[in-house]
Amino acid sequence: PLPLRAAQRPEELRAGVEDNLRSLGVDQLPVVNLRRLDIGPGIQPAGDQVVDLDDQLAVMTAMRDEGKIGAFGLGSVTADGLRRAIPAGIACVQNAYSLVTRDDQDLVELCAEEGIAWVPFFPLGGAFPQMPKVTEEPAVRDVAASIGCTPSQLGLAWLLRHAPNVLLIPGTANPAHLEANVAAGAITLDDATLATLDAVPSRSADIRL
Ligand SMILES: NC(=O)c1ccc[n+]([C@@H]2O[C@H](COP(=O)([O-])OP(=O)(O)OC[C@H]3O[C@@H](n4cnc5c(N)ncnc54)[C@H](OP(=O)(O)O)[C@@H]3O)[C@@H](O)[C@H]2O)c1
Repeated sequence: PLPLRAAQRPEELRAGVEDNLRSLGVDQLPVVNLRRLDIGPGIQPAGDQVVDLDDQLAVMTAMRDEGKIGAFGLGSVTADGLRRAIPAGIACVQNAYSLVTRDDQDLVELCAEEGIAWVPFFPLGGAFPQMPKVTEEPAVRDVAASIGCTPSQLGLAWLLRHAPNVLLIPGTANPAHLEANVAAGAITLDDATLATLDAVPSRSADIRL
């Protein structure tokens, strides 16, 4: 089983922040994401873990007022949920999103309009075998070969060009991959290449564990 807990209740959100403050030895966490779990991929809340968004926003806002967190974002949230939360002040949104899983295109645009950073998790398709992988997409492999980068780098370069508010957090345990991912920031894509990549079909990322 995956070591994941929903931890949605307001007292659990507060306890999570307090734990992090203690273990990091700091007075404030600059940004904390409230992982809503309204959409997949991932675990689904049930029973007393189904908590109203407003109750969660209240505790996040209180912790910001107390100075324990500098700002907060939302994760695995719907467009409706984000709209409800925007008046509370949202710094960033972290949903699954990649070149091959673009369910949340409307959220990318809403965030751009509202000046909210879009920080996709699983930017290359992530760890779950059921999810499509950017590097296995034939159009990505062809374009990468033609411009002389790797398919992973192309997937990251596409995200950076796709919207002005994208911040990337590609995970890697490999130093060579880390260097390649940083270098992806310097890859330029012309309009024809972007159009080819934009035309890649999107498949759903909403997989529940
Ligand atoms: N908010 C949430 O609910 C949530 C959920 C999941 C993940 N996250 C966060 O999102 C971030 C990204 O997630 P992720 O790392 O699982 O997904 P990902 O970036 O889509 O994929 C990571 C995978 O891609 C490989 N990879 C990375 N760079 C590569 C490169 N240049 N060439 C070849 N392979 C490469 C990695 O293997 P190697 O190690 O071999 O490079 C790893 O298997 C992480 O910081 C994670 O903590 C958040």
